[in-house]
Amino acid sequence: MTEPRPEPSRLVVLVSGSGTNLQALIDASADPAYGARIVAVGADRDGIEGLARAQRHGIPTFVDRVADHPDRAAWDVSLAETVASYEPDLVVLAGFMKLTGPAFLDRFGGRTVNTHPALSPSFPGMHGPRDALAHGVKVTGATLFVVDAGVDTGPIVAQVAVPVEDDDDVESLHERIKTSERAMLVEWVGRLAREPHSIDGRRIRFHPKEQS
Ligand code: GAR
Repeated sequence: MTEPRPEPSRLVVLVSGSGTNLQALIDASADPAYGARIVAVGADRDGIEGLARAQRHGIPTFVDRVADHPDRAAWDVSLAETVASYEPDLVVLAGFMKLTGPAFLDRFGGRTVNTHPALSPSFPGMHGPRDALAHGVKVTGATLFVVDAGVDTGPIVAQVAVPVEDDDDVESLHERIKTSERAMLVEWVGRLAREPHSIDGRRIRFHPKEQS
């Protein structure tokens, strides 16, 4: 069972893009009652708004690019070491467009969550909104899950449903998903930080604290 520490949980957030989910976590963690603070933001690429958002808030950032390593496995080891140097309690992948590998999961398995813009197990991968639209589903959404070795396959922490409108394109659908996704991410990262929980097979269980 993961027992939260009395001080705020330490979050490392990994991003690849605009970082609106990161921004929601930055805003939430400004309140000490949230129970978590972001100790670093990492990215797999330079020059993205996600990094700029962190820098504007004085949060340390780092960039670790696959292209700067001999192969993907070496990048994975390097990323794990860099993240470990910030001693996170929880790692949040918030629009991080790379799969973490075995070295990363050896260190952070069970305490890395990822947010995906579809209702798992439907539409895994890089194009959740596009694939949902192409399939013609009427409801899609977002899923927060504990990262495992698969592609968007890990135990599900939370999901939120979002309607697909007849005139949606990929962008309008993804933006509607992201509005609900940010709220879900903030709520459930907060609960993971504050509340004891355990992973039992595919099920996450939260254990209410005894009233004293
Ligand atoms: C989010 O919708 C997130 O679920 C998605 O990228 C977006 C990032 O938005 N992630 C994936 O598709 C990962 N496979 P943001 O940069 O504005 O937070």
